[in-house]
Amino acid sequence: MAPETILLDASHVSKVFGGVRAVDDVSMQVREGTIHALIGPNGAGKTTFFNAVSGYAMPESGHVSFRGKDVTRALNWKRVAMGMGRTFQTPSVFPELTVDENVRLGVRAHAGQAFRLRTPRGAAAAAVDARVDELLRFVNLAAQRDRLVAELAHGSQRLVEIAMSLSTDPVLVLLDEPMAGLAEAETDRIVGVIRDLRTRLGLTVLFVEHNMRVVLSLADRITVLDRGKLLAEGTPAEIAADESVRDAYLGEGVLEHV
Ligand SMILES: Nc1ncnc2c1ncn2[C@@H]1O[C@H](COP(=O)(O)OP(=O)(O)OP(=O)(O)O)[C@@H](O)[C@H]1O
Ligand SMILES: [Mg+2]
Repeated sequence: MAPETILLDASHVSKVFGGVRAVDDVSMQVREGTIHALIGPNGAGKTTFFNAVSGYAMPESGHVSFRGKDVTRALNWKRVAMGMGRTFQTPSVFPELTVDENVRLGVRAHAGQAFRLRTPRGAAAAAVDARVDELLRFVNLAAQRDRLVAELAHGSQRLVEIAMSLSTDPVLVLLDEPMAGLAEAETDRIVGVIRDLRTRLGLTVLFVEHNMRVVLSLADRITVLDRGKLLAEGTPAEIAADESVRDAYLGEGVLEHV
């Protein structure tokens, strides 16, 4: 596809909870091959927007299209099958299983859907093994594959989750605060892996992050939400200089040093 292809197109999306317009008439586009950040103060609607895009919450109005197809009402698994992967703000790994077992679960589930024709057990099993190896190497966790996820550092747990999100062969990955609560060295490991998602795997990434240093260094484009509404959209330089963005973050100290 051409570099300017729009992979994800959200148009006038709204999601209401009771009286709260958690996402209010938000339109944004993610272009293929970009690393795109979605930012905004707490409660701005970032996770709700992710949910609407990935099929975990049906919007009251608006449209979502993915790879040129309208998926506004499509169930989550359908979007996954079309190539949309995601991780969650609350880590969703199995802490009492090993690293290998976690990733294997994702790969097996995907293989179960993908193998339409009955494949000999031996060959299918070998394909799963190879894919698990590949994913563990990609996130640099091959050496820790037999450790329980609960025993790993938080950054490594996040990497397990990213590996699981890759098990469904996505073209777009949505990462909801993949670096939340991590120390700087661990944050940098995740930043490296997100860069690799694009450069080594050719994927497109939409991620939510509060750490402005990370956002400005990693993202090609940034979309800013505030109280459910689209506040600004642009390059890192444009967003860093945007008065309305500075106002929205006033008092949070996140833009003072950039
Ligand atoms: N399931 C729900 N039921 C009711 N209100 C909700 C629900 N989910 C989110 N909200 C409300 O919608 C608004 C947006 O929440 P959301 O979690 O999308 O924000 P966010 O930008 O992801 O915030 P954070 O940075 O804290 O993760 C908030 O006012 C929140 O309280
Ligand atoms: Mg959130």
